[in-house]
Amino acid sequence: MAPEQQIIIGESPSFLEVIEQASRAAGHDRAVLVIGERGTGKELIASRLHFLSPRWEQNFVQVNCASLPDTLLESELFGHEAGSFTGATGRRIGRFEEADKGSLFLDEIATTSLTAQEKILRITEYGTYQRVGSNKTLNTDVRLIGATNIDLPSAADLGEFRHDLLDRLALDVITLPPLRARKEDILILATHFGQKVAQELEWSSFPGYSNELTDIMMEYNWPGNIRELKNVVERAVYYAEHEHKVIDHIILDPFQSPFRPKGKKPLTEPTHDVTITQTNEIKNQGPADYQQTVERFEKELLQNALKTNKFNQRLAAEYLSLSYHQLRHQLKKHNLLG
Ligand SMILES: Nc1ncnc2c1ncn2[C@@H]1O[C@H](COP(=O)(O)OP(=O)(O)OP(=O)(O)O)[C@@H](O)[C@H]1O
Ligand SMILES: [Mg+2]
Repeated sequence: MAPEQQIIIGESPSFLEVIEQASRAAGHDRAVLVIGERGTGKELIASRLHFLSPRWEQNFVQVNCASLPDTLLESELFGHEAGSFTGATGRRIGRFEEADKGSLFLDEIATTSLTAQEKILRITEYGTYQRVGSNKTLNTDVRLIGATNIDLPSAADLGEFRHDLLDRLALDVITLPPLRARKEDILILATHFGQKVAQELEWSSFPGYSNELTDIMMEYNWPGNIRELKNVVERAVYYAEHEHKVIDHIILDPFQSPFRPKGKKPLTEPTHDVTITQTNEIKNQGPADYQQTVERFEKELLQNALKTNKFNQRLAAEYLSLSYHQLRHQLKKHNLLG
């Protein structure tokens, strides 16, 4: 479905507030930052910002900054001249050029390199940039919309995101509430997605959900937010017995199986070697200082994760079920950044 045709559903006060903020922000021509957990609708809001803006008839260009390595991303965004790097056979216009007079949506903007961030800042401030491999200054008139699911001020404090670009983007920050904070919308969304599948299946009507199922959906935490709800509902309706029986079965975790391969252990389970050491230590030493012990334990966990993953911080973060930025924050806290 074309982005301008997507319906945005929700009636909860926190969501309506966000929709109103997005409608207001669509009117001004400054950069906007959209923040929210995965699956909360950042992309939908970004397209609303464009299609409600005076630029709506121009290009709406989308780039997922996490999908390309740093060097390729710069050429993707700013374009390149022939021969500017191995494989650059012809001149290529960048996405900023393509979005001229329209809007550019930089999804996962926090993953851009500091060099790319500097160039993005220059474009948002002066509208000027250079293609990779060229000294010629070009102009473009782009409305920038950035999105991320990480806390950019913390990333800026850690030196991973430029403060000046953050200030520039922070003119208008739209933060999407997670689904668990807008429970009023769960059933409305579930019915909307269910009806769509019923239509696809050419059912005469949508039978709805049983009371038990409604309770389960209302109680569940929805870590994957609306995308997860949509998938769960679609699965339930596709597998429903027939169109006249209320839907009374959903699978919240499709990976659940007695034969599921063993993965990483959650941190709450005392499975790491360090846990055993710490437990023994605590037992042997009698009364312990809570704060100190926790900190020592954290530090050992971090050191252990780094060592196990050959000091690759991204892998260590994954190993500990932390985001990369959370890990960096912890490493900084424990003076382990080297
Ligand atoms: N309010 C809403 N009404 C209807 N559908 C929605 C709503 N919010 C999100 N969706 C749907 O949920 C899915 C996820 O939304 P979207 O891709 O915008 O999330 P996101 O925040 O960009 O996620 P990610 O961080 O994983 O990229 C999409 O299929 C989208 O159409
Ligand atoms: Mg997205």
